[in-house]
Amino acid sequence: MTKPPFMNAPGPEPAEMLSNFRNIRFAAPDFLGHMQQKYGDIVQFSIPKPLTYLVSDPTWVDYVLRVNAKNFGKATIQYRTLALVTGYGLLAADSAAWREQRKVVQPAFHHDLVAEVVSHSVAATNEVIENISNKANEVVDLDHEMMELALNVVGTSLFGADFRNKSNKIVSATLSGLDVVVSRARTPIFPPNWLPTPLNLKLQRANKVLTKAVDKVIDGAASAPKNSIAGLLVEQLRIGSFNRKQVRDELVTFIVAGHETVASALSWALHLISRSPEIQQQLADEANRIYSGRNPEFNDYQNLVFAQAVFNEAMRLYPPAWIITRAAITDDVIAGIEIKAGSLIVISPWVVHRNLAVWSNPEEFNPDRFLKDLKPIAGSFIPFGLGNRMCIGRDFAMFEGVTALSMLAQRFEFTPTKQRVNPLPSVTVRPKSGLPMEIKIR
Ligand code: HEM
Repeated sequence: MTKPPFMNAPGPEPAEMLSNFRNIRFAAPDFLGHMQQKYGDIVQFSIPKPLTYLVSDPTWVDYVLRVNAKNFGKATIQYRTLALVTGYGLLAADSAAWREQRKVVQPAFHHDLVAEVVSHSVAATNEVIENISNKANEVVDLDHEMMELALNVVGTSLFGADFRNKSNKIVSATLSGLDVVVSRARTPIFPPNWLPTPLNLKLQRANKVLTKAVDKVIDGAASAPKNSIAGLLVEQLRIGSFNRKQVRDELVTFIVAGHETVASALSWALHLISRSPEIQQQLADEANRIYSGRNPEFNDYQNLVFAQAVFNEAMRLYPPAWIITRAAITDDVIAGIEIKAGSLIVISPWVVHRNLAVWSNPEEFNPDRFLKDLKPIAGSFIPFGLGNRMCIGRDFAMFEGVTALSMLAQRFEFTPTKQRVNPLPSVTVRPKSGLPMEIKIR
């Protein structure tokens, strides 16, 4: 078979795409990695509309996400589908609307919030520790525990300490809405939103619950501290710069963006260290030296050099946000290939982080890479994205995750009970069928 006329870069012809149908649906990160290895740092898929390219060279990743970011917007199928749940909150919003929202929300992500996140993370991790301490020598699903931990932290940080009573409904409705997003992402053709299919009804139900529950939060949030995220958003409503729908969209966005991502990073970090008793010991030694019997505090983070390296290395191998998409606004040129306006640019941190041109022995888990003074070159390490659309919750996530990881390693020794743990790509990349482990108290 010959190349379709719309293809102007190397890439799989239709027959190869068809033969990979199952991989594309269920093992997309590996499929993309295989395409990069076979065809190079710019790959075109045989998809006529939109013209679709995978870009994996750090220089060009940097170009799309940072240098010429103004020409690459978020009007992509990935963000349109996510917006079915999050609306056009900060994550899915594009161009001018996004700029306004970021200006409003940015002040909430100040130093005090991150300091609060550390104390929320300590409390949530202590809950997990208590929970699983009675299960020593039993098999525990640590992925489940990390989902609870991260939900607890993002919930308390958004809504305040009594969030569990207030926002259970918001959280379960958000998760149920996300199920629909994931099902859609796996199906190339889906019915229009107005058709009463089971999935569409599930989404409508979830969105109804969300709107109602957020209304309740808004009505009850007059007492929320003004510099908390919920407090700041409710204040926007009061002064008329946001309407109710916008407040709802931002709150849901923060739950979606701040929950599963951190849980996934923590789960993979535990998975990786469970296979290396030496690294576990190093983490425990560092924690013992720094905490010396007390709970972690905000200022400890800068000294948790090894725990930071482990967390970064885990996100290099298993970046929770495994795919980032952009749509070209005007014609452009990437790596010598003409890119027409409207083309879809796919950047996969999963693939970039395994690019042999940048990372030596990329499949090896080696936190020492992040201990050297060498800074990864621009565009080569992008767990939080890059440029003006970079994650607003980066410090939030790092302080939360590193603190939790170091506390867990201080307390337990983890032993895997499964030979292989396969990644399941959904909104984030998660361990398929959980993360069963045996734990021993140190
Ligand atoms: C390990 C955890 C996390 C990872 C790996 C992660 C990853 C990312 C990435 C890759 C982007 C950029 C997406 C793009 O360019 O298309 C992003 C954006 C964003 N993230 Fe995170 N994130 C994490 C945690 C968080 C947390 C804790 C929050 C909030 C509490 C958060 C809120 C957001 C928001 C609102 C955006 C959109 C920012 C904008 O466009 O202005 N994220 N995140």
